[in-house]
Amino acid sequence: EGEKGLDISKLRAQTGIVTIDNGFVNTASCASAVTFLNGEEGVLKYRGYKIEELAEKSNFIEVAYLLVYGELPDRDQLTWFQEKINSFSETKAEVKNLMKQFPKDAHPMGVLSSVLSSMSAFYPEYLDQDLSKDKKDAIMAQLIAQVKNIAAYFYRVSQGQDLVDSKPNQFDYCSDFLNMMYGGGDYKPDPEVAKALNVLLILHADHEQNCSTSTVRLVGSSKANLYASIASGVSALWGPLHGGANQAVIEMLMQIQDDGGDYKKFLDKAKDKNDPFRLMGFGHRVYKNFDPRARIIKKACDTILEKLSIKDPLLDIAKGLEEEALKDSYFVERKLYPNVDFYSGIIYKALNIPTNMFTVMFALGRLPGWIAQWKEMIESSATKIGRPRQIFVGETDMAYKPIDQR
Ligand code: ACO
Repeated sequence: EGEKGLDISKLRAQTGIVTIDNGFVNTASCASAVTFLNGEEGVLKYRGYKIEELAEKSNFIEVAYLLVYGELPDRDQLTWFQEKINSFSETKAEVKNLMKQFPKDAHPMGVLSSVLSSMSAFYPEYLDQDLSKDKKDAIMAQLIAQVKNIAAYFYRVSQGQDLVDSKPNQFDYCSDFLNMMYGGGDYKPDPEVAKALNVLLILHADHEQNCSTSTVRLVGSSKANLYASIASGVSALWGPLHGGANQAVIEMLMQIQDDGGDYKKFLDKAKDKNDPFRLMGFGHRVYKNFDPRARIIKKACDTILEKLSIKDPLLDIAKGLEEEALKDSYFVERKLYPNVDFYSGIIYKALNIPTNMFTVMFALGRLPGWIAQWKEMIESSATKIGRPRQIFVGETDMAYKPIDQR
């Protein structure tokens, strides 16, 4: 009834009683045991484990196992999972050739989504609506291996370089990715860079029912295959209000730098309701105190830049912006704080990852979360096809006119 200009009694007569919740601000779409988030207190836990502890002590593959299978793996379980992923480290020649057909300057998120979708054509054995346990384990591991490959291969395509294949027996997951991106000659992945990447992927690994995860669940609820569901999640993530914010943040910081570095001017722009500009990397639907991931990333950003002896003026601009915004009543009253994307781009930039690949890095991190949520959904007896209702506000009584009388 909060909707303006609606005739409530007419709507009741037409539709019956349904609730409207624009943007699903207060509507739970499912019950889930994967990720706990307390937005008021800035708490994030995967399967009960604090994000701070996982980021410090764990690695991405272990966290992927935790999300997907519900508990931290013991040594045997981790070996089994790692070997399963490794067994899918080769990419079919047809898929590699497909990637070479895209324009070199295509946005890698569009390529990732398209190539993932196309995998349903190359792997029909995984399209059954009810996969056996073996097949389910296999397709999940295959995606964890292949999304990394697709991301790195398309980077090489975009640079006009030969592809470097995965070497899972030589490198851990993050080092393998770096080698696929920059390998050749006497390149050796830097362990500090691999460590920073590992932390970023862990921090992005799941975030309960956000836009892309809800998309994966919604598409999957129709029993569409996992390739289609994950490809849809990638498309949802691409938008600048969601995962695309990490690219938008760095572009905004560069714009501020090119403009002379006056970040207060940009804060004013963000506050001006007649200006569509928003402070990218600020604000969150659920976090109303702070985003725990942003705190970890800010610290990681300082550490990695120092270790790599990089001085990036964009980091100073970002810190200045944050400091000013946190003193400004507009941001304070609306509880707008830096989110996970505010500092992540500065780290990706320091790791030499091109700006248009930032959101692909987010997708690589979020993949285990999407898979875990999909698995939870298809295994739950409570699952029904996602089918929201609407409040109809159009005409209901039109007489058809032949075309020459309209
Ligand atoms: N800059 C300026 N004003 C903002 C910002 C911002 N970044 N974010 C929110 N606001 C203002 C809105 O204009 C609104 O003001 P009003 O009450 O005067 O109308 C108020 O704060 C509430 O904002 P909503 O858009 O209603 O909040 P919502 O929960 O729908 O949106 C979102 C959350 C999309 C994250 C928003 O804060 C935003 O656009 N942020 C910038 C983009 C971004 O960083 N996205 C990444 C989010 S994290 C992630 O997906 C990984």
